Amino acid sequence: MCGIVGAVAQRDVSSILVEGLRRLEYRGYDSAGLALINNGELERFRALGKVSELAKKLNAEQPGATGIAHTRWATHGAPSESNAHPHLSRNRIALVHNGIIENYKEIRENLLAQGYQFESETDTETVAHLIESYYDGDLYAAVFRAVGQLQGTFGIAVIASDNQDTLVACRKGSPLVVGLGIKENFIASDVSALLPVTRRFVYLEEGDLVVVNQNGYQIYDSAGASKELPINTTELSADAIHKGDYKHYMLKEIHEQAKAVADCLEGRISENNVLDSVFGPDSEQIFKQVKQVQIVACGTSYHAGFVAKYWIEELLGLPCAIEVASEFRYRQSVVPKDTLFVTLSQSGETADTLAALRNLSIDDYCGSVSICNSPESSLVRESSLVLMTRAGPEIGVASTKAFTTQLVSMLLLAISIGKVRGLAEKIIKDIVRELIALPRQIEQLLRLDKKIESIAEDFIDKHHALFLGRGVHYPIAMEGALKLKEISYIHAEAYPAGELKHGPLALVDADMPVIVVTPNDELLEKLHSNMQEVKARGGKLYVFAHQGAKLEKSSGDVVVEMDCETRWTTPILSTIPLQLLSYYVAVQRGTDVDQPRNLAKSVTVE
Ligand code: G6P
Repeated sequence: MCGIVGAVAQRDVSSILVEGLRRLEYRGYDSAGLALINNGELERFRALGKVSELAKKLNAEQPGATGIAHTRWATHGAPSESNAHPHLSRNRIALVHNGIIENYKEIRENLLAQGYQFESETDTETVAHLIESYYDGDLYAAVFRAVGQLQGTFGIAVIASDNQDTLVACRKGSPLVVGLGIKENFIASDVSALLPVTRRFVYLEEGDLVVVNQNGYQIYDSAGASKELPINTTELSADAIHKGDYKHYMLKEIHEQAKAVADCLEGRISENNVLDSVFGPDSEQIFKQVKQVQIVACGTSYHAGFVAKYWIEELLGLPCAIEVASEFRYRQSVVPKDTLFVTLSQSGETADTLAALRNLSIDDYCGSVSICNSPESSLVRESSLVLMTRAGPEIGVASTKAFTTQLVSMLLLAISIGKVRGLAEKIIKDIVRELIALPRQIEQLLRLDKKIESIAEDFIDKHHALFLGRGVHYPIAMEGALKLKEISYIHAEAYPAGELKHGPLALVDADMPVIVVTPNDELLEKLHSNMQEVKARGGKLYVFAHQGAKLEKSSGDVVVEMDCETRWTTPILSTIPLQLLSYYVAVQRGTDVDQPRNLAKSVTVE
């Protein structure tokens, strides 16, 4: 994945580039670097670690009005300064790259034979040398020729020491935008990087190359024909992204969930129904045809899809399949006629999810719906029906408010389909009423903050944890386990509680915390039996119990009562204490909560 940003201006651009990188850190933070053209020479600065390390090295504004910069999430080659971008070739070409070049080994062999020397283990350096080998003063021509040889998915930006006023960029499978200023122009992996300098953007399309100068830009398609694309003015604001009084973005985002859910619902529901227009004018026709639903997503978004599977099957009586995108995209799946294809994604740029959508054969599906949090993302632009989750910018790598708003959105989707398929008004009314109550109930649950912070102390020295759930709470247990492992590095697994006796019970002892959410539903008694199985083996239970679902407390158990009585929105509410638990365990273990090791917020490579 990685983030790239570039500028061609009349002023020095190093601080613009660094600020751009800070805003792209969600794409990776293993190393950072930038290159500037200063009086016909390339100057490069690189640092291992986060963008702040690079900023320390730069100290002050560096001279150079044309430059490119990069924040890396390592794919080929370990995180190190020598593998950090930009990569140079013969001090004439500097290049930053996002994505993977699949055929770099054979290109590298050819370049070695031509006498090029390699300083890094990256696939990227190959591209820098390849462009240099074709460069005779026309940077566009050299990039065009080189890109024609590359296999894989990538976004690149290139500058040449003797081409002071030019930056060439290309997009194939990785997002790239051109930002338009006044006598200065930019490129970046996404608009957020450039919001401090412009709000006018052109979204490059697959295969496009762009030549950017101070006074303009020219786009070419993959065949080399010049083309024009619309200029969009973004409504995103540059300053939406602050931690405020919170210690971490994750905590802020956990606490923003009541508002995020309210925003997600605003203008979409009446007192007892979901409005007709929510999925747009074409939706009714599509929803009438639906005979089966296929959901595809990754990570936390996959868990939201998994919860929705239970809702869709129960409410609509339609078969609903859910699969992680990286599996689905490469599988010969059987698609019954009139299947609705649903993608869920916070970023709208996750490579596997996008690929799954792009691989669709239109004839197999009756329509595609995207539930997404990023209005200007590729997923949104390429899906036929869209519902924005409106969670607002989510900066913490561990997804929180994006997840709860995805769940709300999936209930809106289920009802919207149900409305054209005869779902009982009473059920719709019940769900909508629960949705309306959600923000207040979330606020209430957030008051468990201090209690959960003290429970988290029990986990400081733990190496493993087991999360149990049944029915619709199995995916919630999965999400709880994912949150804990992502940010505290404690190995955590989720199991359907009924499966406990088929293996994981062997792991249970006094050292294995077992976390259970107990909704007051028809599976409660069965869940109680599963918990007894844990107790009988000396395991310690941490129970988050919904109203009416208290177990008989025995010594050593930790029980947190959740004071809300719900039917449909229960899994949404159950998520809140699990998020708080992971957060406080991570804080007490001293990990990097917002940017956990080895991970990234948006995974734009497969
Ligand atoms: C990464 C993030 C996760 C996220 C997943 C899917 O792994 O760290 O938090 O759930 O990608 O991302 P998406 O943007 O498609 O929801």
